[in-house]
Amino acid sequence: EQIEKGGYEHFMLKEIHEQPAVIKDTFRGRLLSDKGLIKMAGIEDNLQKFTNAKRIIVVACGTSWHAGLVGEYMIEEFARIPVEVEYASEFRYRNPIINEDDVVIAISQSGETADTLAAIKLAKEKGAFVFGVCNVVGSSISRETHAGAYTHAGPEIGVASTKAFTTQITVLALIALRLAEAKGTMSKSEYLRNLLELELIPEKVEEALKEDANIIKIAEIYKDSTNCLYLGRGFNYPVALEGALKLKEISYIHAEGYPAAEMKHGPIALIDEQMPVIVIAPNQNHYDKVVSNIQEIKARSGKIIAVVSKGDTQVKALADHIIEMPESTEALTSIIATIPLQLLSYHIAVMRECNVDQPRNLAKSVTVE
Ligand code: G6P
Repeated sequence: EQIEKGGYEHFMLKEIHEQPAVIKDTFRGRLLSDKGLIKMAGIEDNLQKFTNAKRIIVVACGTSWHAGLVGEYMIEEFARIPVEVEYASEFRYRNPIINEDDVVIAISQSGETADTLAAIKLAKEKGAFVFGVCNVVGSSISRETHAGAYTHAGPEIGVASTKAFTTQITVLALIALRLAEAKGTMSKSEYLRNLLELELIPEKVEEALKEDANIIKIAEIYKDSTNCLYLGRGFNYPVALEGALKLKEISYIHAEGYPAAEMKHGPIALIDEQMPVIVIAPNQNHYDKVVSNIQEIKARSGKIIAVVSKGDTQVKALADHIIEMPESTEALTSIIATIPLQLLSYHIAVMRECNVDQPRNLAKSVTVE
Protein backbone atom coordinates (compact mmCIF):
# COMPACT_ATOMS: atom_id res chain seq x y z
CA GLU A 1 0.00 0.00 0.00
CA GLN A 2 2.88 2.36 0.81
CA ILE A 3 4.16 1.86 -2.72
CA GLU A 4 0.72 2.56 -4.19
CA LYS A 5 0.62 5.81 -2.24
CA GLY A 6 3.75 6.88 -4.10
CA GLY A 7 5.42 8.43 -1.06
CA TYR A 8 2.34 10.35 0.05
CA GLU A 9 0.84 9.83 3.49
CA HIS A 10 -2.63 9.21 2.09
CA PHE A 11 -4.24 8.32 -1.21
CA MET A 12 -6.24 11.53 -1.05
CA LEU A 13 -3.09 13.64 -0.95
CA LYS A 14 -1.55 11.64 -3.79
CA GLU A 15 -4.70 12.09 -5.85
CA ILE A 16 -4.80 15.83 -5.14
CA HIS A 17 -1.23 16.10 -6.44
CA GLU A 18 -1.97 13.98 -9.49
CA GLN A 19 -4.40 16.57 -10.82
CA PRO A 20 -2.05 18.48 -13.14
CA ALA A 21 -1.12 15.19 -14.84
CA VAL A 22 -4.59 13.66 -15.05
CA ILE A 23 -6.23 16.85 -16.31
CA LYS A 24 -3.67 16.71 -19.12
CA ASP A 25 -4.59 13.06 -19.70
CA THR A 26 -8.24 14.08 -19.89
CA PHE A 27 -7.68 16.43 -22.78
CA ARG A 28 -4.87 14.53 -24.48
CA GLY A 29 -5.86 13.82 -28.09
CA ARG A 30 -9.11 15.74 -27.59
CA LEU A 31 -7.92 19.32 -27.26
CA LEU A 32 -6.03 20.34 -30.38
CA SER A 33 -5.60 24.01 -29.65
CA ASP A 34 -3.06 24.61 -32.45
CA LYS A 35 -5.72 23.50 -34.93
CA GLY A 36 -8.54 25.14 -32.99
CA LEU A 37 -10.26 21.79 -32.61
CA ILE A 38 -11.89 19.67 -29.96
CA LYS A 39 -12.29 16.04 -30.90
CA MET A 40 -14.25 13.62 -28.78
CA ALA A 41 -15.53 10.54 -30.55
CA GLY A 42 -18.64 10.21 -28.37
CA ILE A 43 -19.64 13.79 -29.16
CA GLU A 44 -18.69 13.79 -32.88
CA ASP A 45 -20.68 10.61 -33.51
CA ASN A 46 -23.76 12.14 -31.92
CA LEU A 47 -23.23 15.81 -32.61
CA GLN A 48 -26.70 16.41 -34.03
CA LYS A 49 -28.36 14.88 -31.00
CA PHE A 50 -26.62 17.53 -28.92
CA THR A 51 -27.06 20.47 -31.25
CA ASN A 52 -30.75 19.66 -31.78
CA ALA A 53 -31.39 19.05 -28.09
CA LYS A 54 -34.10 21.28 -26.64
CA ARG A 55 -32.65 20.61 -23.25
CA ILE A 56 -29.85 18.77 -21.50
CA ILE A 57 -30.55 17.05 -18.20
CA VAL A 58 -27.59 16.14 -16.03
CA VAL A 59 -28.11 13.32 -13.52
CA ALA A 60 -25.53 12.49 -10.85
CA CYS A 61 -24.92 12.14 -7.11
CA GLY A 62 -22.49 13.65 -4.61
CA THR A 63 -19.37 15.27 -5.99
CA SER A 64 -20.35 14.30 -9.54
CA TRP A 65 -23.54 16.32 -9.07
CA HIS A 66 -21.40 19.35 -8.18
CA ALA A 67 -19.41 18.87 -11.38
CA GLY A 68 -22.77 18.75 -13.16
CA LEU A 69 -23.63 22.20 -11.79
CA VAL A 70 -20.40 23.62 -13.20
CA GLY A 71 -21.30 21.88 -16.47
CA GLU A 72 -24.71 23.54 -16.45
CA TYR A 73 -23.15 26.98 -16.21
CA MET A 74 -20.64 26.14 -18.95
CA ILE A 75 -23.08 24.60 -21.42
CA GLU A 76 -25.64 27.37 -20.96
CA GLU A 77 -23.05 30.13 -21.19
CA PHE A 78 -21.05 28.72 -24.11
CA ALA A 79 -23.56 26.69 -26.14
CA ARG A 80 -26.83 28.34 -25.06
CA ILE A 81 -28.62 25.03 -24.52
CA PRO A 82 -30.88 24.95 -21.45
CA VAL A 83 -29.53 22.59 -18.80
CA GLU A 84 -31.08 21.11 -15.69
CA VAL A 85 -29.05 19.31 -13.05
CA GLU A 86 -30.83 16.65 -11.04
CA TYR A 87 -29.96 14.41 -8.14
CA ALA A 88 -30.35 10.96 -9.69
CA SER A 89 -32.18 9.73 -6.58
CA GLU A 90 -34.85 12.43 -6.94
CA PHE A 91 -35.10 12.25 -10.69
CA ARG A 92 -35.78 8.53 -10.78
CA TYR A 93 -38.77 8.67 -8.43
CA ARG A 94 -40.53 11.89 -9.34
CA ASN A 95 -42.02 10.97 -12.69
CA PRO A 96 -39.86 13.53 -14.52
CA ILE A 97 -40.75 14.96 -17.91
CA ILE A 98 -38.30 13.51 -20.41
CA ASN A 99 -38.71 13.94 -24.15
CA GLU A 100 -37.09 12.25 -27.09
CA ASP A 101 -35.26 15.43 -27.97
CA ASP A 102 -33.70 15.68 -24.53
CA VAL A 103 -30.12 14.67 -24.01
CA VAL A 104 -29.27 13.23 -20.61
CA ILE A 105 -25.69 13.43 -19.34
CA ALA A 106 -24.99 11.00 -16.51
CA ILE A 107 -21.86 11.80 -14.51
CA SER A 108 -20.27 9.17 -12.29
CA GLN A 109 -16.73 8.52 -11.16
CA SER A 110 -17.30 4.84 -10.38
CA GLY A 111 -19.93 4.23 -13.02
CA GLU A 112 -21.70 2.03 -10.47
CA THR A 113 -23.89 4.37 -8.43
CA ALA A 114 -27.28 2.68 -8.13
CA ASP A 115 -29.41 5.83 -8.29
CA THR A 116 -27.57 7.17 -11.32
CA LEU A 117 -27.89 3.85 -13.08
CA ALA A 118 -31.63 3.75 -12.39
CA ALA A 119 -32.02 7.35 -13.65
CA ILE A 120 -30.28 6.35 -16.89
CA LYS A 121 -32.59 3.37 -17.40
CA LEU A 122 -35.63 5.60 -16.86
CA ALA A 123 -34.37 8.22 -19.33
CA LYS A 124 -33.72 5.54 -21.92
CA GLU A 125 -37.20 4.08 -21.49
CA LYS A 126 -38.61 7.53 -22.22
CA GLY A 127 -36.58 7.76 -25.40
CA ALA A 128 -33.83 10.20 -24.39
CA PHE A 129 -30.28 9.92 -25.67
CA VAL A 130 -28.01 9.24 -22.70
CA PHE A 131 -24.36 10.24 -22.62
CA GLY A 132 -22.06 9.07 -19.82
CA VAL A 133 -19.14 10.87 -18.21
CA CYS A 134 -17.42 8.13 -16.21
CA ASN A 135 -13.99 7.46 -14.85
CA VAL A 136 -14.01 3.69 -14.52
CA VAL A 137 -13.62 2.07 -17.91
CA GLY A 138 -16.14 -0.67 -18.64
CA SER A 139 -18.27 0.25 -15.59
CA SER A 140 -22.03 -0.42 -15.54
CA ILE A 141 -22.90 3.20 -16.40
CA SER A 142 -20.40 3.33 -19.25
CA ARG A 143 -22.08 0.22 -20.69
CA GLU A 144 -25.64 1.35 -20.05
CA THR A 145 -25.27 4.74 -21.78
CA HIS A 146 -25.60 5.26 -25.56
CA ALA A 147 -22.24 7.01 -25.80
CA GLY A 148 -19.83 8.78 -23.50
CA ALA A 149 -16.48 10.26 -22.64
CA TYR A 150 -14.12 8.90 -20.02
CA THR A 151 -12.44 11.27 -17.61
CA HIS A 152 -9.08 9.38 -17.60
CA ALA A 153 -8.35 10.36 -13.98
CA GLY A 154 -6.97 6.90 -13.21
CA PRO A 155 -8.02 4.90 -10.14
CA GLU A 156 -9.34 7.06 -7.34
CA ILE A 157 -8.90 5.26 -4.01
CA GLY A 158 -9.62 8.02 -1.45
CA VAL A 159 -13.33 7.97 -0.65
CA ALA A 160 -13.48 11.76 -0.87
CA SER A 161 -13.40 12.52 -4.57
CA THR A 162 -10.74 14.95 -5.79
CA LYS A 163 -9.18 14.29 -9.19
CA ALA A 164 -12.41 12.75 -10.44
CA PHE A 165 -14.14 16.09 -9.87
CA THR A 166 -11.62 18.30 -11.67
CA THR A 167 -11.41 15.90 -14.62
CA GLN A 168 -15.21 15.78 -14.84
CA ILE A 169 -15.22 19.57 -15.11
CA THR A 170 -12.51 19.30 -17.77
CA VAL A 171 -14.64 16.91 -19.86
CA LEU A 172 -17.69 19.14 -19.41
CA ALA A 173 -15.66 22.17 -20.54
CA LEU A 174 -14.58 20.27 -23.66
CA ILE A 175 -18.18 19.32 -24.40
CA ALA A 176 -19.49 22.83 -23.79
CA LEU A 177 -16.84 24.36 -26.06
CA ARG A 178 -17.36 21.80 -28.82
CA LEU A 179 -21.10 22.44 -28.74
CA ALA A 180 -20.52 26.19 -28.74
CA GLU A 181 -18.44 25.86 -31.87
CA ALA A 182 -20.99 23.60 -33.55
CA LYS A 183 -23.87 25.92 -32.70
CA GLY A 184 -21.97 29.12 -33.47
CA THR A 185 -22.85 30.56 -30.08
CA MET A 186 -19.35 31.77 -29.28
CA SER A 187 -17.09 34.02 -31.30
CA LYS A 188 -14.10 32.31 -32.88
CA SER A 189 -11.66 34.41 -30.85
CA GLU A 190 -13.42 33.65 -27.58
CA TYR A 191 -13.49 29.96 -28.47
CA LEU A 192 -9.77 29.89 -29.27
CA ARG A 193 -8.97 31.79 -26.10
CA ASN A 194 -10.85 29.18 -24.08
CA LEU A 195 -8.94 26.37 -25.77
CA LEU A 196 -5.64 28.00 -24.90
CA GLU A 197 -6.76 28.67 -21.33
CA LEU A 198 -7.86 25.06 -20.94
CA GLU A 199 -4.46 23.90 -22.06
CA LEU A 200 -2.84 26.04 -19.35
CA ILE A 201 -4.96 24.57 -16.55
CA PRO A 202 -2.52 21.79 -15.54
CA GLU A 203 0.31 24.25 -14.90
CA LYS A 204 -2.04 26.62 -13.07
CA VAL A 205 -3.25 23.75 -10.88
CA GLU A 206 0.41 22.95 -10.21
CA GLU A 207 0.90 26.54 -9.11
CA ALA A 208 -2.20 26.43 -6.90
CA LEU A 209 -0.76 23.36 -5.14
CA LYS A 210 2.21 25.48 -4.05
CA GLU A 211 0.01 27.25 -1.50
CA ASP A 212 0.17 24.09 0.61
CA ALA A 213 2.40 25.51 3.38
CA ASN A 214 0.15 28.55 3.74
CA ILE A 215 -2.94 26.30 3.83
CA ILE A 216 -1.38 24.13 6.57
CA LYS A 217 -1.01 27.26 8.73
CA ILE A 218 -4.65 28.17 8.15
CA ALA A 219 -5.73 24.59 8.91
CA GLU A 220 -3.87 24.77 12.25
CA ILE A 221 -5.92 27.80 13.27
CA TYR A 222 -9.34 26.42 12.30
CA LYS A 223 -8.98 22.69 12.91
CA ASP A 224 -11.15 22.80 16.04
CA SER A 225 -14.02 24.71 14.46
CA THR A 226 -17.44 23.14 14.73
CA ASN A 227 -18.96 24.91 11.74
CA CYS A 228 -17.74 26.35 8.52
CA LEU A 229 -19.37 28.28 5.69
CA TYR A 230 -18.23 28.22 2.04
CA LEU A 231 -19.31 30.95 -0.35
CA GLY A 232 -18.89 31.44 -4.06
CA ARG A 233 -20.75 32.98 -6.98
CA GLY A 234 -21.27 31.98 -10.58
CA PHE A 235 -19.00 29.14 -11.65
CA ASN A 236 -17.53 29.11 -8.17
CA TYR A 237 -20.83 28.49 -6.41
CA PRO A 238 -20.63 24.72 -7.10
CA VAL A 239 -16.99 24.88 -5.98
CA ALA A 240 -18.19 26.25 -2.63
CA LEU A 241 -20.62 23.33 -2.35
CA GLU A 242 -17.83 20.89 -3.14
CA GLY A 243 -15.45 22.55 -0.65
CA ALA A 244 -18.03 22.19 2.12
CA LEU A 245 -18.74 18.57 1.17
CA LYS A 246 -15.01 17.74 1.30
CA LEU A 247 -14.65 19.22 4.78
CA LYS A 248 -17.66 17.44 6.25
CA GLU A 249 -16.82 14.12 4.60
CA ILE A 250 -13.33 13.76 6.01
CA SER A 251 -13.08 16.02 9.07
CA TYR A 252 -16.67 15.68 10.38
CA ILE A 253 -16.92 19.44 10.80
CA HIS A 254 -20.34 20.72 9.87
CA ALA A 255 -19.95 22.78 6.71
CA GLU A 256 -22.33 24.39 4.29
CA GLY A 257 -21.79 25.78 0.84
CA TYR A 258 -23.90 28.69 -0.36
CA PRO A 259 -24.13 31.05 -3.29
CA ALA A 260 -22.54 34.13 -1.70
CA ALA A 261 -25.54 36.40 -2.23
CA GLU A 262 -27.89 33.92 -0.56
CA MET A 263 -25.97 34.36 2.67
CA LYS A 264 -28.27 37.21 3.64
CA HIS A 265 -31.27 34.89 3.47
CA GLY A 266 -30.20 32.70 6.34
CA PRO A 267 -26.57 31.77 6.99
CA ILE A 268 -25.66 35.34 7.95
CA ALA A 269 -27.53 34.69 11.20
CA LEU A 270 -24.86 32.13 12.11
CA ILE A 271 -21.89 34.41 11.63
CA ASP A 272 -19.91 35.35 14.72
CA GLU A 273 -16.24 35.28 15.70
CA GLN A 274 -16.37 31.47 15.92
CA MET A 275 -17.41 31.03 12.31
CA PRO A 276 -14.78 30.63 9.61
CA VAL A 277 -16.11 31.62 6.20
CA ILE A 278 -14.22 30.48 3.15
CA VAL A 279 -14.93 32.83 0.28
CA ILE A 280 -13.92 32.16 -3.31
CA ALA A 281 -13.19 35.64 -4.61
CA PRO A 282 -11.29 35.61 -7.91
CA ASN A 283 -10.83 38.87 -9.73
CA GLN A 284 -13.69 38.26 -12.17
CA ASN A 285 -17.27 39.11 -13.03
CA HIS A 286 -18.69 39.11 -9.53
CA TYR A 287 -15.64 40.50 -7.76
CA ASP A 288 -17.25 43.69 -6.42
CA LYS A 289 -20.29 41.76 -5.25
CA VAL A 290 -18.12 39.23 -3.44
CA VAL A 291 -16.14 42.06 -1.85
CA SER A 292 -19.35 43.46 -0.41
CA ASN A 293 -20.31 39.98 0.84
CA ILE A 294 -16.93 39.85 2.59
CA GLN A 295 -17.58 43.25 4.18
CA GLU A 296 -20.87 41.90 5.54
CA ILE A 297 -19.08 38.95 7.13
CA LYS A 298 -16.42 41.21 8.59
CA ALA A 299 -19.03 43.50 10.10
CA ARG A 300 -20.30 40.47 12.04
CA SER A 301 -16.81 39.43 13.17
CA GLY A 302 -16.72 36.27 11.05
CA LYS A 303 -13.28 34.92 10.21
CA ILE A 304 -12.56 35.27 6.52
CA ILE A 305 -10.40 32.89 4.53
CA ALA A 306 -10.42 34.17 0.97
CA VAL A 307 -9.28 32.36 -2.15
CA VAL A 308 -8.14 35.17 -4.43
CA SER A 309 -6.38 35.81 -7.71
CA LYS A 310 -2.65 36.29 -7.46
CA GLY A 311 -1.78 39.91 -6.65
CA ASP A 312 -5.19 40.77 -5.18
CA THR A 313 -5.12 43.75 -2.85
CA GLN A 314 -8.74 44.67 -2.12
CA VAL A 315 -9.83 41.39 -0.54
CA LYS A 316 -6.43 41.00 1.08
CA ALA A 317 -7.08 44.17 3.05
CA LEU A 318 -10.32 42.73 4.45
CA ALA A 319 -9.66 39.02 4.91
CA ASP A 320 -8.04 37.30 7.90
CA HIS A 321 -6.20 34.93 5.56
CA ILE A 322 -5.74 34.74 1.86
CA ILE A 323 -4.89 31.86 -0.44
CA GLU A 324 -3.68 32.93 -3.86
CA MET A 325 -4.30 31.17 -7.14
CA PRO A 326 -3.47 31.95 -10.77
CA GLU A 327 -6.08 33.68 -12.91
CA SER A 328 -7.98 32.03 -15.75
CA THR A 329 -11.33 32.49 -17.42
CA GLU A 330 -14.18 32.60 -14.95
CA ALA A 331 -15.44 29.18 -16.04
CA LEU A 332 -12.07 27.47 -15.74
CA THR A 333 -11.23 29.13 -12.43
CA SER A 334 -13.66 26.59 -10.97
CA ILE A 335 -10.99 23.92 -11.48
CA ILE A 336 -8.19 25.99 -9.96
CA ALA A 337 -10.21 27.22 -6.96
CA THR A 338 -11.08 23.63 -6.07
CA ILE A 339 -7.44 22.82 -5.26
CA PRO A 340 -6.96 24.95 -2.11
CA LEU A 341 -10.29 23.75 -0.74
CA GLN A 342 -9.23 20.12 -1.18
CA LEU A 343 -5.94 20.83 0.61
CA LEU A 344 -7.64 22.73 3.42
CA SER A 345 -10.05 19.89 4.20
CA TYR A 346 -7.27 17.33 3.88
CA HIS A 347 -4.97 19.06 6.37
CA ILE A 348 -7.75 19.79 8.85
CA ALA A 349 -8.81 16.12 8.75
CA VAL A 350 -5.23 14.92 9.29
CA MET A 351 -4.80 17.31 12.23
CA ARG A 352 -8.02 15.97 13.74
CA GLU A 353 -6.62 12.46 13.31
CA CYS A 354 -9.50 11.40 11.10
CA ASN A 355 -9.31 8.48 8.72
CA VAL A 356 -8.84 10.59 5.62
CA ASP A 357 -8.97 7.87 2.99
CA GLN A 358 -11.82 5.95 4.56
CA PRO A 359 -14.09 8.30 6.47
CA ARG A 360 -16.72 6.77 8.72
CA ASN A 361 -20.08 5.80 7.23
CA LEU A 362 -19.09 6.62 3.66
CA ALA A 363 -18.48 4.33 0.70
CA LYS A 364 -16.47 5.02 -2.41
CA SER A 365 -19.26 3.78 -4.56
CA VAL A 366 -22.88 3.44 -3.48
CA THR A 367 -24.25 0.47 -5.35
CA VAL A 368 -27.43 0.14 -3.28
CA GLU A 369 -30.16 2.69 -2.68
C1 G6P B 1 -20.22 8.38 -3.00
C2 G6P B 1 -18.78 8.84 -2.95
C3 G6P B 1 -18.66 10.25 -3.51
C4 G6P B 1 -19.23 10.33 -4.89
C5 G6P B 1 -20.67 9.80 -4.96
C6 G6P B 1 -21.12 9.60 -6.39
O1 G6P B 1 -20.98 9.13 -2.11
O2 G6P B 1 -18.30 8.79 -1.62
O3 G6P B 1 -17.31 10.65 -3.54
O4 G6P B 1 -19.21 11.64 -5.37
O5 G6P B 1 -20.75 8.52 -4.32
O6 G6P B 1 -20.34 8.60 -6.95
P1 G6P B 1 -20.05 8.42 -8.47
O7 G6P B 1 -19.13 7.22 -8.54
O8 G6P B 1 -21.38 8.13 -9.13
O9 G6P B 1 -19.44 9.65 -8.98
